[in-house]
Amino acid sequence: MDMIRSDFPILSKYPRLIYLDNAATTHKPKSVIDALSEFYINYNANIHRGVYRLSEEATDLYERSREIVARFIGAEPYQIVFVKNATEALNTAIWNFRSLDIQSTVYEHHSMLLPIYRYSKSYKLHSRIDEIKGDIIAVTHASNVTGRVIDLKTIRENNPNAIIIADGTQYVPHMSVDIKSIDVDMYAFSGHKMLGPTGIGVLYIKNPEQYEPLMLGGGTVSNVTDSMFRLLDTVERYEAGTPPIAEAYALSKAVEYLSSKFEDLYQLDQKIIRIANKLFQEYEIYPVEMNINIPIFSFYFPSVHSHDVAEMLDTYYDIAVRSGYHCAQPLHEFLGIGPTVRASFYIYNTEEELYKFMNALKNIILKFK
Ligand SMILES: Cc1ncc(COP(=O)(O)O)c(C=O)c1O
Repeated sequence: MDMIRSDFPILSKYPRLIYLDNAATTHKPKSVIDALSEFYINYNANIHRGVYRLSEEATDLYERSREIVARFIGAEPYQIVFVKNATEALNTAIWNFRSLDIQSTVYEHHSMLLPIYRYSKSYKLHSRIDEIKGDIIAVTHASNVTGRVIDLKTIRENNPNAIIIADGTQYVPHMSVDIKSIDVDMYAFSGHKMLGPTGIGVLYIKNPEQYEPLMLGGGTVSNVTDSMFRLLDTVERYEAGTPPIAEAYALSKAVEYLSSKFEDLYQLDQKIIRIANKLFQEYEIYPVEMNINIPIFSFYFPSVHSHDVAEMLDTYYDIAVRSGYHCAQPLHEFLGIGPTVRASFYIYNTEEELYKFMNALKNIILKFK
């Protein structure tokens, strides 16, 4: 574990910090940080348009990054669109099904829900996955509040001909994805929640030529006259303007780092979940949902506001957690609770940090009993 922690410069800068806000964003290993400056020092040029060598090298780097990201989820490079973040990916996906009926769940993040509210003709938010039936289905793969994993295979089995859009933002950082076997039509995730930089996300599209970009601009077209334009058939149709080139390269480094540690991460996640479950019983502090597959735990305390708990954790214990609705207010309403405190673990967190967190939480709660 010390080996892994030493790869993250920010953890050496703040040795007392217990960072448990990984579902919001993760820290970056040195290889990712270095990739950003490496790009600007060695390769900086705009891509796809230049015929000079530097531009060609930058283009190669960008396209190789697409290949690495594609391989990571078992997709083909021609199916990977680089976007700004998962929010842009989900907006693009949902906009393609505007004025249609969309089936979704109460577990969604606002970045899925708000485009559904705005663009769909009608929608239904299900709490039971086995009850989802429809032509267009838009669901999260893992909840950012409870860590619950949604079984996409069951949804596909129940809806063999449906278009399925999935939000993999919290799933991809923790679990291996084989996009062909989960058989979805579109799949979104963010780079910065999986050790990559901010400013880059991914939208997998099974058949990219069948849908349209939300944004138009340079690099998306094969022909433009004074009255019409023709979009390219490739993923470039979705990448209007100058794309996040350095960020794509740095994301490829994050993917390489993560791939080399994925087995360790899986073992760590399972250990954290096992110990956490034991401590929850022992300390009688229960997360809002016990059925978790990914180490994201949210808590609700009737006697003290979640913001106060989060502030005390920071002030007295150097523990960084998130509090509020976590951009999933309808889920809190469905569960009948107010804002929650969320602790989310990742590859550099330790068992010792979990014990410290639970002890700190117990001390704070006891004060307000
Ligand atoms: C499940 C889920 N989907 C989508 C998003 C949006 O990600 P981003 O803010 O990187 O666009 C988040 C962010 O927390 C999330 O947790």
